[in-house]
Amino acid sequence: MKLIIASNRVTISGNKNQTAGGLAVALNDVLAKRRGMWFGWSGKIGPEQKEATISERAGVTYGLCDLSKEDYEEYYNGFANRALWPLLHYRLDLTEFDRKDLNGYRRVNSYFADLLLQHIEPDDVIWIHDYHLIPLAEALRARGVHNRIGYFQHIPWPPVDIFLALPNHTEIARALKSCDLVGFQTQRDAKNFGDYLLSECKAFTRDHKHFVIGSRSLQVGVYPVGINRNEFARAAARASSSKFVSDVEESLSGRAMLIGVDRLDYSKGLTHRLDAFERMLEGHPGWRDKVTFLQITPKSRGDIPEYAAMQRALGEAAGRINGLYGRASWTPIRYINHAHSRKELAGLYRLAKVGVVTPLRDGMNLVAKEFVAAQDPDNPGVLVLSRFAGAASVLKGALLVNPYDLDGVAKAMDQALKMEREERIARWKTMWAGVDETDISGWATRFLRDLEMRPQEILLAAQ
Ligand code: G6P
Repeated sequence: MKLIIASNRVTISGNKNQTAGGLAVALNDVLAKRRGMWFGWSGKIGPEQKEATISERAGVTYGLCDLSKEDYEEYYNGFANRALWPLLHYRLDLTEFDRKDLNGYRRVNSYFADLLLQHIEPDDVIWIHDYHLIPLAEALRARGVHNRIGYFQHIPWPPVDIFLALPNHTEIARALKSCDLVGFQTQRDAKNFGDYLLSECKAFTRDHKHFVIGSRSLQVGVYPVGINRNEFARAAARASSSKFVSDVEESLSGRAMLIGVDRLDYSKGLTHRLDAFERMLEGHPGWRDKVTFLQITPKSRGDIPEYAAMQRALGEAAGRINGLYGRASWTPIRYINHAHSRKELAGLYRLAKVGVVTPLRDGMNLVAKEFVAAQDPDNPGVLVLSRFAGAASVLKGALLVNPYDLDGVAKAMDQALKMEREERIARWKTMWAGVDETDISGWATRFLRDLEMRPQEILLAAQ
């Protein structure tokens, strides 16, 4: 009996060309313990394959498939990232629906199902990750797969009225009823999905956790993704004495640093964030020449027009603010597109006085948790956190902000920079405890334990 993980992106253990986030490391650990398989897109464009390309590394089998140019355009750039991604992040204004893309999305999920089928044995447990692969469980069932199948949604699930704006919404959401367990990051996401099942899929439930839809029973649960807190704290402490961090510290010339680290994505609220920083410099002139904002933003999904536009807007905002407030000896915003290693980021988080995590909407946001884990307990920094990030449900000691309220965010930045040590320590302690509650290895164990529960138990709980 093995564990099979299926996701669009696959991170191969120890691959030097990929920067593995904490989540990828954790999934590889779980797979290594169970001699499992990780299946998904190779990241390459090529002719469709008859069989997945198989390799093995550190006790894990990897099954990778190329996507044709058309598949990449319609499934990845199209339906997944121009329809589902904005819609699931509540951005109806950016949602572009195209029937051709939906067909490509269906086609790639069927293609993955065909190739994965060749590796499924009767007792295997299958764990599908994220919005690219919502129809995969249904495609596998159609091919006679009776195994336990779980699905975890890493990003938000919006309220019913927003989801209804997706043409073919019933087809997409109903596909998840082929799973035995569907997991979400927060209670709010799980409730939104449950409400949809009740209003649109003729489901019934007694506890909002176990649903019966026609002849199938489905469990819905909340599994907030965490980080390996203690390991990250150790990495940050070690990195703070590295040459890289010392060089950055020296370059600040005694100024306080605020830090933001995000993939370049409109859901992250990056232009709002820079505008809020500008308001802070405008409204609190005492901070001019005293603070530096380091924004690290690796580029992402560059073939999609909204992302290219966002990249331009962000570059312009940083240039405008630096032009207006900067001096020959001081650049207010350092805006960087290079990706940094986890070790470097850990050191930078510890060096920063303020972590600024202000997405307009985010499933969880692990940067917020990593920032907390990286702090020096005797002299911690302050976290300014969007109330619309899943992490806000556990990081109660943060300064919670509405990212659309630029004056409010500017005020929180000022408050964070001025905060006395005693208050910083008290706030940090509650956050440190909050990060522990959602530790990464516990996350996978809890999801898999629920997934392996017998269907009979789910049915009994629903009645
Ligand atoms: C989010 C999604 C992931 C996705 C990642 C990077 O975290 O939840 O599924 O892999 O963004 O996006 P990309 O399009 O580069 O895979």
